[in-house]
Amino acid sequence: MYITSLSLEDVRIIKSCDLSFDQGVTAFVGDNGQGKTSLLEAMFWTSHAKSFRHVSNDDVIRKDCDFAKIELHLTDGQRPQDIVATINRVGRAGVFVNGQRLKRNRDLATTLRVSVFTPDDLEIIKGSSSFRREILDDALHQISPKYVAAYSDYQRTLKQKNALLKDQHIDFSVLDVLNTSLAVSGSQVLKSRLNALSTMRETLQSSYRHIADDEPMVGMRYISKIFGNDHGEDIDPDEDQNVEALQELFLEKINYYKDIELRRAHSVVGPHRDDLFLSIDDRDTRTQASQGEQRTMALALKMALHYVVHNATGDNPVLLLDDVFSELDLGRTHRLVESLPSAQTFVTTATELPSTLKVDKIFQVKNGEISSSS
Ligand SMILES: Nc1ncnc2c1ncn2[C@@H]1O[C@H](COP(=O)(O)OP(=O)(O)OP(=O)(O)O)[C@@H](O)[C@H]1O
Ligand SMILES: [Mg+2]
Repeated sequence: MYITSLSLEDVRIIKSCDLSFDQGVTAFVGDNGQGKTSLLEAMFWTSHAKSFRHVSNDDVIRKDCDFAKIELHLTDGQRPQDIVATINRVGRAGVFVNGQRLKRNRDLATTLRVSVFTPDDLEIIKGSSSFRREILDDALHQISPKYVAAYSDYQRTLKQKNALLKDQHIDFSVLDVLNTSLAVSGSQVLKSRLNALSTMRETLQSSYRHIADDEPMVGMRYISKIFGNDHGEDIDPDEDQNVEALQELFLEKINYYKDIELRRAHSVVGPHRDDLFLSIDDRDTRTQASQGEQRTMALALKMALHYVVHNATGDNPVLLLDDVFSELDLGRTHRLVESLPSAQTFVTTATELPSTLKVDKIFQVKNGEISSSS
């Protein structure tokens, strides 16, 4: 799919703009603080109903304005579609897809698929496990409405269970019902995540090796108490096991951790606590890799997730590359350019564009105004 046009009103520094795009590579060029990232942020918003900067919707609305408006047109090669969003300071945002009001914002994920790369991606490697779960789940959300449903069932039940665990007088029959329900939705989440890992492993290694111009063993393990042994050691799950087996295992582990959960008054086992362990030649990328290696791993991981979505849907998500080249050495920059998938691509830069990047259209961004320069 690709984006054919973007119109904004009162999004951050941008008062208004009307831009149209082709399928190839579009660059937004300009000094710092002029509105380049805001353009990518607006595109991302229409696929996620939130910003990729981990900020509230309020921050996206231009200062002193009541609402921001984003209108985006796209085509999946067969039919045109449009997403129109009004982001308010109070109340829920109103999102319309092809003129129909969207009931659940989470349904946007399969309407416009995007893969975003930002300098903050370093957090995926260095930060807490929630960052790693988030990108994995984000890719899976783009693949299937079934995953979206299982994931939100799981989150809802988890909330109920955590509330119950905090009760003075716990009704254990209710706890049993919630645990069974958690195992049903949680095993579907697990199954999808394990499938994604099997699919992406090869791309992760080849992308890493290509960008780094080196041949290390790149490792990726799914870490979960569900697969841990009685000594608390992490055991690699069988990625091919079926959802019924996962459900049984998960329920077993919930029972195993029951006393601890009651004592701590929250759920300690399940996909909401799981992690990805990434390594380069058996070195933990989180604690034993250089900044450049961590950045390369983050890029390779995003590339592999893009592949997972492409492999499952046949669609090539739109690439949003926010300032990614500025942090890389020249060799890595060119090798990253070489390994980019052939998707519609938007790049931003405050400096030079890589000489090997074939750019089809350049926009200058200055003080929130965007003008075409080619
Ligand atoms: N809600 C808002 N209302 C008005 N202006 C805002 C708002 N939020 C951010 N800004 C301003 O918008 C400007 C553009 O921000 P943006 O992050 O898009 O810049 P950029 O061109 O990507 O810069 P850089 O090259 O430094 O990444 C900044 O000067 C910022 O202070
Ligand atoms: Mg920026």
